[in-house]
Amino acid sequence: MTIVEIGPADAGWLALLHGACFPEDPWPADAWAALLGQPGVAGAALLRAGEPVGLALGRHVADEAEVLTIGVAPGQRRIGAGRALLDHLLASLPGQVSTVFLEVAADNVPAQALYANAGFRRAGTRRGYYRRAGGVAVDALLLCFVRANGSSRTGEVPAPLRAPWP
Ligand SMILES: CC(C)(COP(=O)(O)OP(=O)(O)OC[C@H]1O[C@@H](n2cnc3c(N)ncnc32)[C@H](O)[C@@H]1OP(=O)(O)O)[C@@H](O)C(=O)NCCC(=O)NCCS
Repeated sequence: MTIVEIGPADAGWLALLHGACFPEDPWPADAWAALLGQPGVAGAALLRAGEPVGLALGRHVADEAEVLTIGVAPGQRRIGAGRALLDHLLASLPGQVSTVFLEVAADNVPAQALYANAGFRRAGTRRGYYRRAGGVAVDALLLCFVRANGSSRTGEVPAPLRAPWP
């Protein structure tokens, strides 16, 4: 497995790979290009035998960061790609970033296990944040990871980045 940085020029294949990972929520190539052109946004792809099979994207502002997306192609899961991408994303953040947030659907068991094993802890809930087919509402769990001096250390969960939920 090889991890490579990604940029706006990769938007076309990133959109295809992301669509395979998230068939219910594909992001078009122009959205990828726009995101990767924004300040503080950075990501990586994981290659197997030279082919991209996984991706991760994050954004940082001052001392906080957010995992925007992480996905592995369906036929390539449970071999460590997701964890490798998450570890890479966390390790690549600038040293001043102390807290990393993300949202995960309450019914997404594989992703919750990945984040829990990597040291993320529950920091809140956004009620009805996701809509499934048929209009079914699913909560988002807000998770948080605390870094110390740019290293990967879990610890006390601070106050959420923002608390818009009731
Ligand atoms: C979540 C996802 C990225 C995990 O990628 P992956 O490459 O399969 O994960 P890894 O092989 O690195 O697994 C790391 C750990 O995550 C957990 N995990 C991953 N898939 C799991 C599953 N299906 N069931 C339970 N735990 C799982 C395990 O703890 C695993 O460690 P282990 O294999 O030593 O038990 C992948 O399932 C995926 O792309 N899902 C669709 C997109 C998605 O939901 N992304 C997250 C949005 S918040």
